[in-house]
Amino acid sequence: MKPIYSRIIATGGYLPERVLSNHDLAQMVETSDAWIFARTGIRTRRIVAADEKTVDLAEAAARQALADAGLGAEDLDLIVVATTTPDQIFPSTACLLQARLGNHGAPAFDIQAVCTGFIYALATADRFIRCGGTRRALVVGAESMSRIIDWTDRGTCILFGDGAGAVILGASDEPGVISTHIHADGAYADQLQVPDGETRMTMQGNAVFRMAVRTLGEMVQETLAANALDSADIDWLVPHQANIRIIQATADKLGLSMERVVTTVQHHGNTSAASVPLALDDAARRGCFQPGQRLLLEAFGGGFTWGSALLRWS
Ligand code: COA
Repeated sequence: MKPIYSRIIATGGYLPERVLSNHDLAQMVETSDAWIFARTGIRTRRIVAADEKTVDLAEAAARQALADAGLGAEDLDLIVVATTTPDQIFPSTACLLQARLGNHGAPAFDIQAVCTGFIYALATADRFIRCGGTRRALVVGAESMSRIIDWTDRGTCILFGDGAGAVILGASDEPGVISTHIHADGAYADQLQVPDGETRMTMQGNAVFRMAVRTLGEMVQETLAANALDSADIDWLVPHQANIRIIQATADKLGLSMERVVTTVQHHGNTSAASVPLALDDAARRGCFQPGQRLLLEAFGGGFTWGSALLRWS
């Protein structure tokens, strides 16, 4: 029997209208545009409106991906949403999204792996498709991070933004998704968390930074080794958009020039599970990727969790 693979057949993205600049933040906490830009590469981020929900962001991104694919909601066999900021404890954001889209009967569930959520969701949907029976999967990363930010903490409130990105994965005779790699180590839970009984995020920024740089360096090497490739075989790095210095460190380890790295962090900030699919959609719409090129997606987040996906663009 011929193996089944998955491949990305369409992307979508959505950013809320309200722009929050570094200058705006300097009116709220003791900071400056110069400090934020030098330490993170961020200039602006988007923030949800008071009545805008995570499912609204997810729906806008999903509708764009469906339109791009020329598919209707009834064509989906699976809906997976990666989010850290669901609107309700239950139903899952995926079920809320399913109702909005008008799909009935496909399995729908959320994945919670914080900033690595989209890579976890992609890895999960890829496995569903490879196993047979699932032909088309909607995979979304959607976040309203502004709802869990402590707006008095200058160490965290400058970093995050809101948004959603989506892809449609379709069954294919050829990869597509070449390999996915996901990991976690809960021993580091307290370094980046919403503490038990609280509603706002806390972070040991410097420790997280060092761990992210080290782990992502190892992650990209693991991905290359698993496929007997070296860094010259990678056409594009599509990294989690947490901090330009973390992105640069990973690109340096790969020996990849920044022209081959998709960066949206300057305008989006860190949108957690939405960051990789938003970056992917942004670059795809700008026509950056050529058919046959190899893309390396990676992310690191609370948990700690980390993961990567190697794709062939088609
Ligand atoms: N504006 C001005 N000064 C600030 C500041 C801000 N927004 N935030 C922190 N500082 C100050 C600190 O208070 C500290 O002052 P001190 O030396 O007087 O104590 C100084 O800047 C250095 O702080 P430090 O935390 O060591 O800075 P840093 O270079 O590590 O940068 C982060 C801080 C948060 C930008 C950086 O640690 C980071 O990006 N961490 C990873 C975050 C991340 O990616 N998280 C999500 C993972 S998915």
